[in-house]
Amino acid sequence: MKIDILTLFPEMFKGVFEESIIKRAIDDKKIEINLINFRDYSKDPHHKVDDTPYGGGAGMVLTCQPIFDCVNDIRTEDSKIILLTPSGTPYKQQKAYELSKEKHLIIICGHYEGFDERIRTIVDEEISVGDYVLTGGEIASMIIVDSVTRLIPGVITEESHIEDSFNNNLLDYPTYTKPRIYNGLEVPEVLLSGDHKKIEEYRKEESIKKTKEVRPDLLGDD
Ligand code: ADE
Repeated sequence: MKIDILTLFPEMFKGVFEESIIKRAIDDKKIEINLINFRDYSKDPHHKVDDTPYGGGAGMVLTCQPIFDCVNDIRTEDSKIILLTPSGTPYKQQKAYELSKEKHLIIICGHYEGFDERIRTIVDEEISVGDYVLTGGEIASMIIVDSVTRLIPGVITEESHIEDSFNNNLLDYPTYTKPRIYNGLEVPEVLLSGDHKKIEEYRKEESIKKTKEVRPDLLGDD
């Protein structure tokens, strides 16, 4: 999969894409990530990418021209164009699965006070990573790239995400490792029993219990 990220701050991605699973996925050619500074597409003599809002108001608004020209330059028939904005559709694991099947993602990171409304006409989807406002779409795009990359076949073992939180609308069950007793805290007996059926039942029950406690909305119980 190819992911093109349109950002004014490509340096922000250093570290995040140069460590751990994302780095390995890039090295193994499971994903190709390009950081494109759309300022390079600005036709303004000073390479401006923003301007004051018509009608007045605070802050600067991203202009159409650099983003339109950049997207037109890189899009193909296979491209899915995503705009990151707090007013987009809330991002969920199901969407991560859908995006992991795409061939080419173009992710536009907004910044400053917002973007010209007409930018919406060239995108396929608008996504929000949560009900809070970030300083820009950069961190949001890292969230999307991270959650999508781990679902690309061969990036992590399939079992690792079959039992992910949110699959079947349930949160993950609790896991334990050695030692059996730590600071007086014991591993539940059933996990030491070797009885796989009982362990499976216990995990399912714990998943449901946890989901009821902290995310009843996932069960439609809220
Ligand atoms: N840009 C600023 N806040 C955002 C959010 N919550 N999701 C996506 N993009 C954003």
